[in-house]
Amino acid sequence: MSHRLFLRSLLTVLAILISAGPGSGRAMAAEAWPKVASPYGIDPKTEARIDALLARMTLAEKVGQITMAEIHSISPNDVKRFHIGGLLNGGGSWPNKNRKATIPEWLVMANAFHDASIDPRGKRTAIPVIWGTDAVHGHNNVIGATLFPHNIGLGAMRNPGLMRDIGIATAREVSVTGIGWAFAPTVAVARDDRWGRTYESYSEDPALVADYAREIVVGLQGHPALDDAFGVGRVIATAKHFVGDGGTLKGDDQGDTVLDEAKLKALHAAGHVTAIGAGAQTVMATFNSWNGVKTHGNKYLLTDVLKDRLGFDGFVIGDWDGHAQVPGCLKVSCPAAVNAGVDMIMVPIDWREFIRNTSIQVKKGEISQARLDDAVRRILRVKIRAGLLERGRPSQQPLAGKTQLLGHPDHRALARQAVRESLVLLKNNGILPLAPGKKILVAGHAADSIPHQTGGWTITWQGRDNTNADFPGATSVFAGIRDAVAAAGGTAILSEAGNYDASPAASPDAAIVVFGETPYAEFEGDLESERGLDLDDERALEILKRLKAANIPTIAVFLSGRPRWVTPEIDAADAFIAAWLPGSEGAGIADVIFSDPAGKIRHGFSGKLSFSWPASPVGPPPNIGDPDYAPLFPFGFGLTYGKGG
Ligand code: GLC
Repeated sequence: MSHRLFLRSLLTVLAILISAGPGSGRAMAAEAWPKVASPYGIDPKTEARIDALLARMTLAEKVGQITMAEIHSISPNDVKRFHIGGLLNGGGSWPNKNRKATIPEWLVMANAFHDASIDPRGKRTAIPVIWGTDAVHGHNNVIGATLFPHNIGLGAMRNPGLMRDIGIATAREVSVTGIGWAFAPTVAVARDDRWGRTYESYSEDPALVADYAREIVVGLQGHPALDDAFGVGRVIATAKHFVGDGGTLKGDDQGDTVLDEAKLKALHAAGHVTAIGAGAQTVMATFNSWNGVKTHGNKYLLTDVLKDRLGFDGFVIGDWDGHAQVPGCLKVSCPAAVNAGVDMIMVPIDWREFIRNTSIQVKKGEISQARLDDAVRRILRVKIRAGLLERGRPSQQPLAGKTQLLGHPDHRALARQAVRESLVLLKNNGILPLAPGKKILVAGHAADSIPHQTGGWTITWQGRDNTNADFPGATSVFAGIRDAVAAAGGTAILSEAGNYDASPAASPDAAIVVFGETPYAEFEGDLESERGLDLDDERALEILKRLKAANIPTIAVFLSGRPRWVTPEIDAADAFIAAWLPGSEGAGIADVIFSDPAGKIRHGFSGKLSFSWPASPVGPPPNIGDPDYAPLFPFGFGLTYGKGG
């Protein structure tokens, strides 16, 4: 190679590496990523308005605007004093720390924070604070809300259109409490089911995730082309977590996604691309690293790729103290994250010291004024697009306080349809559909347990410490079976242990054993051992074997946040249904299991696996596209009635 040519290549590589900033760990240039057109575009009037606001804002007001605190670590007066730009209620955080907080309690708190953040006298450049919440399968922190199936079940529906309706219903229920921002959708492409957040992913297939992300963002936010962007009952959406959250080694939550850039883009960015194309106004940075570099500090990904190349013109919200994982950073201090492109830092508890340190870092030039202004501009742009500067108090919003919308029958019917369409029939030796007017034994620890149906991110962060009483209006799997059977003159008997009267007159005509995973969220759901996917719970298998020995036709209903290795249970049952985490409308399962009294099918099985089902409990789970792909049931599998069902 000539000296001149060598020098040019060296300079090119150096230029790419320098532009990538510290720790980019990448070889490709941003130009290899797709360019996405935001449906909002940059409005000169909006930008001029922001110019004027920026010109008036003090350093303290700007640094406050890029800071997000948790509602229980800050008072309205603090919001006023420190010009806080964002708030969140973490999973299991409610007004007055009351899990049964009423809608008025939510609204009183939302009003208090809002009023503190604006200044009617106009003396300060007061910008309304914005409150975000994890409404990831309905307004799941609020008792009485409709709880949709978690994303893994929705992916099995293969019905992107329904996702828009689910987004609309979710946004309307969130609006009832005066909150204007949902940290949803999760557009992760989970590739190792040992990950504790697999159920937050629609699929291992990026194309399916991309289709779903587009639709639910339109449902949540509306869309400019539909003349309904941020109209009544709409909220700001969040595409999360950018990028590669579902690709970590061994599914280790917040771990390292080791992939070349082409694979990272192809596998893990698809949902972000369509979400941004649908107008998602916020993107949440991911905890995980990419090739050893923590994303909250990766300027190449957060700025060069996401903003400059993809064209994302909303704002990047950090994840819960995710900035503190960047080398050299603390919860209270992280210029690297701001410089990398995180526009609002989620520092739930330590926000006061973070503000102090960040102000000093701007004064010292560790964070440039231009970067700070860009972050504030993006936040203001989103708040203006969402109408927040004009909207007034949370309680004055059109749907605020309309408690009847929470768990509305139309929303529950929508959720029940989603449950039906999410069910995947893995085995049926002909006993399904069941005739309803019979004696049905319903067994299993999850049979009458709504918490097992709703999983994590439900009322509490981990979805634990809940009981059926926490779900007014909801139906357990058993309740749905009981009602369907009774309507046909039959009887359903609940026995978690699977005990029954074996006398000829009383012996059940069939049995349904409902079992599954206990609720979990995030890293608490990671499966660490090599036998990770083995279901370490033999209770259902014992019941299934006992019923099989007694020649009682038996259906297994498996409630889980991911495929598990349950081959023994599948072998022991006459029929096996993967029901995922169906949410509040457990009756949707009976809708499909039972025909009508005349034997006519009411709802058939239509669900198809959006995750490959493992043939072994050991090692990395199979994914569509693997060279040595050998699942027990492949991606897309699902029996139906009448066709081998
Ligand atoms: C959590 C999750 C993120 C969530 C945030 C706020 O750690 O990673 O998905 O939106 O914190 O609850």
